[in-house]
Amino acid sequence: MPKLNENYLKLKDSYLFAEIAHRTAIYTKEHPDKPLIRLGIGDVTRPLGSSILKALHEGVEEMADTATFKGYGPEQGYTETRDAVAAYYKSKGVDVDSDDIFISDGAKSDTGNVTELFAHNNVILIPDPVYPVYVDSNIMCGNQVTYIKGDAENEFLPMPDERQHADIIYICSPNNPTGACYNKEQLKVWVDYALKNEAVILFDAAYEAFISDPELPGSIYAVEGARRCAIEFCSLSKTAGFTGTRCGYTVVPKELVFTASDGQSMSLHAMWNRRQSTKYNGTSYIVQHAAAQVFSSEGIRECRENLEYYKANARLMADTLSELGIRFFGGVHSPYIWFECPDGMDSWECFDYLLEEIQVVGTPGAGFGENGKNYFRLTSFGTYENTQEAMKRFKRLLGK
Ligand SMILES: Cc1ncc(COP(=O)(O)O)c(C=O)c1O
Repeated sequence: MPKLNENYLKLKDSYLFAEIAHRTAIYTKEHPDKPLIRLGIGDVTRPLGSSILKALHEGVEEMADTATFKGYGPEQGYTETRDAVAAYYKSKGVDVDSDDIFISDGAKSDTGNVTELFAHNNVILIPDPVYPVYVDSNIMCGNQVTYIKGDAENEFLPMPDERQHADIIYICSPNNPTGACYNKEQLKVWVDYALKNEAVILFDAAYEAFISDPELPGSIYAVEGARRCAIEFCSLSKTAGFTGTRCGYTVVPKELVFTASDGQSMSLHAMWNRRQSTKYNGTSYIVQHAAAQVFSSEGIRECRENLEYYKANARLMADTLSELGIRFFGGVHSPYIWFECPDGMDSWECFDYLLEEIQVVGTPGAGFGENGKNYFRLTSFGTYENTQEAMKRFKRLLGK
């Protein structure tokens, strides 16, 4: 009999979305005449831009001809795609070497797989609330994590405690679920803290494309010193509507060199390269060809149009909550609105209340960590019409 990885027994049941589906299914069965508005989804809904779609077709056509057919590609990604990502960084004023960029099938795999580069006795800081993959992937490999508290007081942007040592630090900015986004000065404090502790920052920038203030950093490498302490994960999922198409990229600078227990140097870049070459055979050429188009001027324009659509939804929600006097975070540099549940409700009570009273479905904050238990997440990925209707119902229900 195999001995199993019993760390899986330590995982909390991932029942958030299953429970949401369960409660909404019961409600719909009992009230078939009351249509629901779903503002809980973390998935995009707008179609791919036309030039991006054209590139996807081109990739398919190349597979039909012996002269252009592609088999296994480089595990790290095609040069075309890596160069396109590097050029995108450059356009934002950030220097990233093309060969520090690893193309992948998305940020979820990479943020989960990165745990393999580290031993099991590190001090690992993870914000709470946050995208649950960081915690679960550490628990799966037997690691203990230390939570760093996000709350209204720190505007869901926890800062380092200088008295505490850390080896690995997860940062998600703009944050899922809170929508909070660190400014450059705040990130600099984290980078300086990491350098002082000889720690690594694992920076998830999956929502960088939603940042509309050029002063806010869309990459940790906008901060001096970050190349010596940070790995950055990014994704085309929300930027370009690739949640189903699948493509992301991870930057592992060659400067990330640490000392092994026997004194020899170990490069995280070389380790990640080895890991990917051993366990990953690359993102499909067809997808990478389309991904390269995402970063062309035409592709960026097309993606912006979709982002503007979502941002208009977010603005509408933010304006409505402001009008109703409900405290919220996010909604400006992020597709997420994170609001405080009214009247001291916890997030599941708030879920039931909104479902029963106005048939609006969102995501209870408890699913993102202990500190989310009195908060609720709405997303801007619905249609404008549905968002408008949902906000009308909010006003009806919560207006004084
Ligand atoms: C913070 C964060 N990182 C990563 C991901 C996953 O991205 P991908 O679709 O590229 O795997 C998500 C998806 O919701 C996310 O919210």
